[in-house]
Amino acid sequence: MSVRFDDKAKIFFLKTDNTEYQIKINEYGMVLHTYYGAETGETDMSYLIKEVDRGFSGNPYEGRKKRGISADTLPSEYSTDGAGDYRVNALGIVAADGSRTCDLRFKDYNIKSGKYKLEDLPYVREENDKSDTLEIVLEDKTLELEVVLRYGVFEKKDIITRQTLIINKSDNCITLNKASSMCMDMIDKNMDLIHFHGRHAMERQTERIKITHDIHTIGSKRGASSHHNNPFVIICDHNATEDFGNCYGIMLMYSGNHMQEVEMDQAGSIRIVSGIGSSLFNWKLGKSETFETPEVILAYSGKGLNELSFLYHRIIRENVCPKQFRDMKRPVLINNWEGTYFDFDEKKIIEIEDSAAELGCEMFVLDDGWFGERNDDNAGLGDWKVNTDKLPGGIKTIADHANSLGMKFGLWFEPEMINEDSDLYRNHPEWVITDNNRNPVMGRNQLLLDMGKPEVVDYLFDSISEILDSANIEYIKWDFNRSIANPYSGGLEAEYEGEVLHRFMLGTYKLMDKIRSKYPDILIEGCSGGGGRFDAGIMFYSPQIWCSDNSDAIDRLSIQKGTSYGYPVSVMGSHVSASPNHQNGRVVPIITRGIVAMSGTFGYELDPRKLSIEEKEIIKKQITDFNKYYKLIQKGRYYRLTNEFEEKNYVCWQFVSEDKSECLVNIVLTNVHANAEIITVKLKGLNKNGCYIIDNSSSSCNDMPLEASFESSGNCISYSGSALMNGGYSFDPMYGVYPGMQIHFKMR
Ligand code: GLA
Repeated sequence: MSVRFDDKAKIFFLKTDNTEYQIKINEYGMVLHTYYGAETGETDMSYLIKEVDRGFSGNPYEGRKKRGISADTLPSEYSTDGAGDYRVNALGIVAADGSRTCDLRFKDYNIKSGKYKLEDLPYVREENDKSDTLEIVLEDKTLELEVVLRYGVFEKKDIITRQTLIINKSDNCITLNKASSMCMDMIDKNMDLIHFHGRHAMERQTERIKITHDIHTIGSKRGASSHHNNPFVIICDHNATEDFGNCYGIMLMYSGNHMQEVEMDQAGSIRIVSGIGSSLFNWKLGKSETFETPEVILAYSGKGLNELSFLYHRIIRENVCPKQFRDMKRPVLINNWEGTYFDFDEKKIIEIEDSAAELGCEMFVLDDGWFGERNDDNAGLGDWKVNTDKLPGGIKTIADHANSLGMKFGLWFEPEMINEDSDLYRNHPEWVITDNNRNPVMGRNQLLLDMGKPEVVDYLFDSISEILDSANIEYIKWDFNRSIANPYSGGLEAEYEGEVLHRFMLGTYKLMDKIRSKYPDILIEGCSGGGGRFDAGIMFYSPQIWCSDNSDAIDRLSIQKGTSYGYPVSVMGSHVSASPNHQNGRVVPIITRGIVAMSGTFGYELDPRKLSIEEKEIIKKQITDFNKYYKLIQKGRYYRLTNEFEEKNYVCWQFVSEDKSECLVNIVLTNVHANAEIITVKLKGLNKNGCYIIDNSSSSCNDMPLEASFESSGNCISYSGSALMNGGYSFDPMYGVYPGMQIHFKMR
């Protein structure tokens, strides 16, 4: 069992192969967080806590004589408002009589083998791992409110999940105005917060700040996890690097409004609270009702950020994403969006399919514009019926044509959205989220369907199913193209209106679940104007997500690198698009574009009919190379080789196969200089005694001195793994516009 309760010391020990987590119940039944980190040999770590009497930090009534006992200073496992803890808290309530105090104490516990599941929300699946569950039941006797803290311990994967159930055992309604998933206190000082901020077409930019006496809130109020603040944060030692130092990851598995609060308190301790965003939220909990919070995935690495990322990559790939797709080779796809936008018809699509198949593409995806009166982005959303003016033979003709060329076929949907100019809106204006007393805020001229209404979910399920049944559709791109405003359902009584945004997410997950259950083999690629819902919640249904609407390879370096801290490359949708790039006008060589896109699910986003003969030849080689490397990329271990906070001239990253017999090193220069310094990079994760040779490479620079060292030339240099890791590899100088190079090493 990876969970043990020491009845005498009143300590819960949660253990994984390399980490330990401790919770202690004190003499007043307060549930204290006493440790998370590298193993301690089950030492009672509460010796670190000093019960200091601090002015203005009150004491529980029973402990009033012991002035060092205070909810305001002790490390808590789930803190509450109103009971003398003045830091950011996990739970805020309003009782039927208007009182706002909640004081939770230990009631009971339960240890089970196997991982708990959630009813209506995504969660980390147990699969074949050895995992155990701890449930700690807390209660507020006055309110008759129970809170169950649930922990899932994945022993071999060094992952601990947390989730909370809030149960009203009273006869009265209790309103939750904050219902976080977790709270955790750390006594460590000198820590940094790394978070991933951004904007549309520039998601998950990495920012690292020192945690100071302040409350840092990373969150979204957009009704989606957002391009702007990803629900994943890292707390690490101030001196932690990619390969050194203590790092903690906190990843919320939720796609709606969220909030990660990090506070350094008066004593210098750090508190982290993570969960649904409390702004625009409240939830009425009737008699015997339970509120289920989203799950949080926690990981600890004592060996720096690369190791922390590896723990997340593995758990997401193996236990979050749907199992069918874990090892399945994802098709190299071509999407027509940047190739045609809305300007297509059946003839054009068939021509594009023909030339894509010649290049070796494995799936054609028809993007926005195939349905209703959708000739631009002002009309048609909600009317999931084929536009037969553009596609007289329906989806079937173009899907069959793709299939006849040996390609799969995929289709775009944006289920949760509706245009005012649509038959659906004309028939069901009451299905929209809007405040009826005012004009709605518009976004891309569209509104949101009220996914909290079962009839809306049913309509979408039926109309999407009808299309999916009409042809051999093996992939869905599931888009979501605006932020939510005017959160008002109209279908709920006034006091329930604070539930609209969470109900929206529950309805969306329900629809995804229904589609997945009926069509388990259809690959769903998530999307939200690119990466506006790039979170572990969506990954439960979609093993890949379009990473960004920005397809420029150079901007993608920081987007994909930021994404890689928490999410695996197998989830990152990444394509080669035309040059000059449509989003920023930048010109980048096609080889460099290919190198960057290959660190993802790989595909093309252009009109293949417009390619030159030379570009077509390069693309054929890219697809052959990707198919050769896909296992290494999809399942291999990913390492960031450059420190993005210091190195501004190039980005270098590496994939190493599970058995260490091969690795792929990628470099792109973002600045070139005359008479440049030599770039030497130390590789990682190789077999130190292995003898590696260069087996294949591609470079955007014309002359390829590397060719000279290929095995086939009979003139091949070999490198020991320890030489490549300790001495490094020096790249030949690279010049020109955004040069890139990819080198495949294999062990002899
Ligand atoms: C979003 C997506 C794009 C494309 C358009 C279509 O912006 O991110 O890839 O599908 O919608 O409208």
